Amino acid sequence: MLKTYNDGKGLDSSRRAFLKLAATGFLAGLVAPFLPRLAAAQTAAAKSGKKILVVYYSRTGNTREVADRIHQFVGGDLVAMETVNPYPGDYRETTRQAKRELESGYRPPIKTKIPDLASYDMVFLGSPNWWGTIAMPVMTFLSENDLSGKTIAPFMTHGGSALGRSRADIEGLCPKATVLDGLAIPGTSVKTSQQDVAAWLRSMGMPV
Ligand SMILES: Cc1cc2nc3c(=O)[nH]c(=O)nc-3n(C[C@H](O)[C@H](O)[C@H](O)COP(=O)(O)O)c2cc1C
Repeated sequence: MLKTYNDGKGLDSSRRAFLKLAATGFLAGLVAPFLPRLAAAQTAAAKSGKKILVVYYSRTGNTREVADRIHQFVGGDLVAMETVNPYPGDYRETTRQAKRELESGYRPPIKTKIPDLASYDMVFLGSPNWWGTIAMPVMTFLSENDLSGKTIAPFMTHGGSALGRSRADIEGLCPKATVLDGLAIPGTSVKTSQQDVAAWLRSMGMPV
């Protein structure tokens, strides 16, 4: 029989010890499912020997979800681009504004600054498809930051146009960077994009 004694503080010690053990086990159970992913992220970045930046713009969250997934796999630094003036909440108004900006070559100001950008080897660049190409805030980012000599891995979420002409536009804005084949995920499939993201990363030799 388990011997118990009371130390006068309400709970007897063996019961407290048991609860402590149970709590530790419970916490371990909570954390365990994430350990392989954390380990994978550490090894992918470490094994590749590259300094990685995952930078993206997302107005309604789809591209952010894919960026988060990529970051979970590859590690490195994760940065969300932010515009100085937010786009309208209304979808149609945003499409009209974006069309005007695209046609006039307007670059909406962004707040985003990357400390020590020169130190990164590889940039995962995320954008929604806007009028068949990267969103205008992403154009601003590429105009303001020199990615010469870096490898750019573009990823895009979309409503049917996949990558559109984004690759050519990224190459035009970053003529001295190496632009890899991009990943296109329909906005409706971001929640189930884990396998596609992993396959894309493996296709470029990332150890995930
Ligand atoms: C201004 C604007 C223009 C868009 N143009 C296109 C387009 O040309 N082709 C397309 O497939 N989807 C287009 N879409 C849909 C978005 O690409 C899609 O909803 C995307 O997943 C949104 O990403 P986010 O949630 O990260 O902002 C457009 C959306 C907006 C707001």
